[in-house]
Amino acid sequence: MNVGIDLIHFSTSDYYLGLDVFAKEKHIDVDKYFVGIGQEKMSIAPPDEDVVSLAAKAAAPILQQIDKNQISAVLFATESGVDQSKSAGAFLHGLLKLSPRCRVVEFKHACYAGAAALQMATAMVRANPKEKILVVAADIAKYDVDTSGEATQGCGAVAMLVTANPRIIAIEPGSGYHTEDVMDFWRPNQRTTALVDGKYSTKVYLNSLKQAWQHFTEETGRTFGDINHFCYHIPFTKMAEKAHHTLAKVAGVKLTEDEFRAQTWPSQIYNRIVGNSYSASLFVGFCSLLDNLKENLENRRVSFFSYGSGCVAEFFTGLIQPGYQQVLMSASHQRQIDSRQPLTYAQYLAFYHQVDDNVENITFERHNKGPYRLAGIQDHKRYYEAQ
Ligand code: HMG
Repeated sequence: MNVGIDLIHFSTSDYYLGLDVFAKEKHIDVDKYFVGIGQEKMSIAPPDEDVVSLAAKAAAPILQQIDKNQISAVLFATESGVDQSKSAGAFLHGLLKLSPRCRVVEFKHACYAGAAALQMATAMVRANPKEKILVVAADIAKYDVDTSGEATQGCGAVAMLVTANPRIIAIEPGSGYHTEDVMDFWRPNQRTTALVDGKYSTKVYLNSLKQAWQHFTEETGRTFGDINHFCYHIPFTKMAEKAHHTLAKVAGVKLTEDEFRAQTWPSQIYNRIVGNSYSASLFVGFCSLLDNLKENLENRRVSFFSYGSGCVAEFFTGLIQPGYQQVLMSASHQRQIDSRQPLTYAQYLAFYHQVDDNVENITFERHNKGPYRLAGIQDHKRYYEAQ
């Protein structure tokens, strides 16, 4: 029985900061961003947007296509959770009016949580093919102002319906993984912004890729040549390019420039203009591949490399299903990206400083133009509203 992603939809915020504007503000050559790290824009969340509203915006179009009472579990992956106890999935469950006959849990391990939730969902469906599981990965990447990480912020959410006989991609059993207790990127409980040892984090990412790949080949017997398209966790697109060079080298494969580009470029297009969305980023890359590669991908094998700092990594593959194009929501993705409003650096800073999760009571001015928003906080309780 095939198990995998039956429907997929991503969301991002209504605002972005151009890295050209950012570079001008910081008196830095813009090519450091456009070329050096391969990023052009970062989606910026206004104060009334959080991972719950982003997740609801990602999931709603999927629920419109199915009987939502059949959702048997919500697995919510995030590292920018809104509560230390209550899962972001419970807020989402309420906002989307899902059936009480549903289990909800939050997954966390940095950017790896999305892949972990997807793998858990596929295992649950293999055990009971009646299950229909909503996996949502949602994050807002936030670093301190004037740090090396500031240019690699962004936000987004990806919702995936995981079922038997999926219409988009069947996730193949067998994967390679690697875990190591390291401090390359972390966010202590009292902080709203992440701390990072940037250069070290890129080294750990590449080493984890090598280790996970080695394990993957031992577990599955598959080779580099068995894979048609490669999706990587994309904190910035240059990282995915470095990853692909590393993987080709480890696998002993020499690629022409055209082959290299065809294997990786389509999965980077959205991430280049959305920025890092942590746990969602790998799947934003997958949406980018599905939407932007103007070839028929039926029966092709796609690989997924998930990396979560700290660190846990996993390499796995899937087979694109016949007829997948009929259920893609590419127009909605493009519309969201195209309708974002540019911010000046001062406007970005105003949004940046207004978000304070410690506040006891606040009513948010409406900036979020999406279908769901964080309306306010009263007595430390978050209130959302649907339009
Ligand atoms: P930096 O110090 O700002 O930049 O840090 P740099 O000086 O290293 O320059 C970056 C690149 O631009 C270099 O290329 C420069 O040569 C080039 P490289 O040597 O890397 O190939 N460059 C230029 N190119 C053309 N024209 C120019 C020019 N100037 C410079 N004028 C860093 C960069 C990525 C470290 C920083 O942005 C950072 O700390 N980011 C956050 C951490 C991060 O994203 N790490 C990635 C791996 S860890 C990960 O993916 C997990 C994560 O998503 C979190 C999670 O798991 O939850 C982060």
